[in-house]
Amino acid sequence: MKAIYLTGFMGAGKTTIGEQLGIELSLPVIDTDKEIEKKQGLTIKQIFEQYGEAYFRELETEILKTLPSENVIITTGGGIVIKRENRELMKNNGQIILLHAEIDVVYERIHADPNRPIASKKSKQQLASLYLSRKSFYEDCTIKIETGNKSIAEIVKDMILRLK
Ligand code: S3P
Repeated sequence: MKAIYLTGFMGAGKTTIGEQLGIELSLPVIDTDKEIEKKQGLTIKQIFEQYGEAYFRELETEILKTLPSENVIITTGGGIVIKRENRELMKNNGQIILLHAEIDVVYERIHADPNRPIASKKSKQQLASLYLSRKSFYEDCTIKIETGNKSIAEIVKDMILRLK
């Protein structure tokens, strides 16, 4: 099976749902942010603070290129879709599943999280406009899942039914 990439805005549930999907499909789950942190020996927050976002984006692309393209679930950072190079790699290597949650839900989940440098100190409106600036990139996916009020089990079931 070709790689499954989970994309979506911060707080959409990529990590939690990716882990559950991995259990259901008996596939390993690799998280791009965790791989970057392991390789750099720094947290995402520290990388942003010490080197800035542009450098983080380079690391993100570098990591994405090194990951397997078969029999794996790859959960991605919310900004992975910004770069065309990343979008093309994901499209060529596998299926992209977009997880979508409403901005109110996302805001509640992430606005107070000190470990999300892109979200901290942003108002709901600022996050909404960041989301809008990325929307068309997110929507260029294989499968879009509306998370709504569904449970993790329901979301994963829905995904499995729609995977090719
Ligand atoms: C980012 C999302 C984060 C992380 C970094 C940048 C973004 O991942 O990669 O803080 O630009 O949306 P999550 O989507 O897992 O929060």
